[in-house]
Amino acid sequence: MSEHKIIAILGATGAQGGGLVRAILDDPHGGFTPRAITRDPDTPRAKALAAMGAEVVGADLDDSASMELALAGAHGAYFVTFFWEHFSPEREKAQVRALAQAAKGAGLNHVIWSTLEDTRRWVPLDDDRMPTLMGEYKVPHFDAKGESNACFTELGVPTTFLLTSFYWDNLIHFGMGPKPGPDGRLAFTLPMGDKKLPGIAAEDIGRCAYGIFQGGAQYIGKTLGICGEQLTGAQMAAELGQALGQEVVYDAVTPAQFRGFGFPGAEDLGNMFQFKADFETDFCAARDPVLSRALNPRLQDFRTWLARNKDRIPAA
Ligand SMILES: NC(=O)c1ccc[n+]([C@@H]2O[C@H](COP(=O)([O-])OP(=O)(O)OC[C@H]3O[C@@H](n4cnc5c(N)ncnc54)[C@H](OP(=O)(O)O)[C@@H]3O)[C@@H](O)[C@H]2O)c1
Repeated sequence: MSEHKIIAILGATGAQGGGLVRAILDDPHGGFTPRAITRDPDTPRAKALAAMGAEVVGADLDDSASMELALAGAHGAYFVTFFWEHFSPEREKAQVRALAQAAKGAGLNHVIWSTLEDTRRWVPLDDDRMPTLMGEYKVPHFDAKGESNACFTELGVPTTFLLTSFYWDNLIHFGMGPKPGPDGRLAFTLPMGDKKLPGIAAEDIGRCAYGIFQGGAQYIGKTLGICGEQLTGAQMAAELGQALGQEVVYDAVTPAQFRGFGFPGAEDLGNMFQFKADFETDFCAARDPVLSRALNPRLQDFRTWLARNKDRIPAA
């Protein structure tokens, strides 16, 4: 084991990082070993990773000294931040700056930074097609990540910038599954008209990241976008209907309606879906399913993901 390269993984008990831990452990002769970072190594989820064979270390993104220790001696690291834990782009930016500094200090050979577009490059703040949020953002959880890319380039950290996609798991965990409408039929709500939404099984993000670490130097300095498939809301509703064995209609609300749904983050997500729809060509072109499958031969399309997960979707 000792010659195996250590990959320190943030969010190891969560979706993205967990997929990477499992991908590395699934390939014991691949030359890598996972170091799972968690705030609490004593939780059942952390203990489960240790039982699978991962090294588990305690560290907190908001505690730079703990992160420096967690990176010590590692070959590489997977960095993801957790906007929905606090809803603060300022905090997310401070966390990424500290991560880039810690990576530089640890002399890491390869960082994968799980980022998203700074949408203000497409929609300047004075563009009133969508409201400006928190004073200086259009899509706060995207913009903070995209703006933070510069932390890595400015410090010369050898980084791959990974553009992720909408998790299909949001249908299970994020309240986005189909729900009965007034007429009793199941409706899948998405404010994207007839535009395509790149989506992915959350587990496949980490598996693609593993392919990037395997590829090594060729991917440093590159921006890679991944998705499992790009489907319209109507196509997703049709696939859902097939999987669930009952009709699912597509409820194409407007982005303004979605922003008005009132749950925490609804405005941010309404702007996000509008950005994805208004700039469909750029957004989809940045996420290549062929590249994703080359990185991760087990990549799932929506139908495959549904076959495995349909019983976990609440409406089902
Ligand atoms: N949902 C989507 O469709 C989607 C799509 C693209 C990108 N994203 C982005 O994905 C990010 C979230 O990633 P995820 O879905 O993998 O997260 P997740 O499944 O919600 O996992 C949360 C993880 O965060 C860790 N964590 C939280 N705060 C921490 C801190 N201060 N220090 C260290 N670890 C901390 C937790 O670990 P412990 O509790 O064990 O410490 C847990 O493993 C968000 O920023 C979001 O914008 C989401």
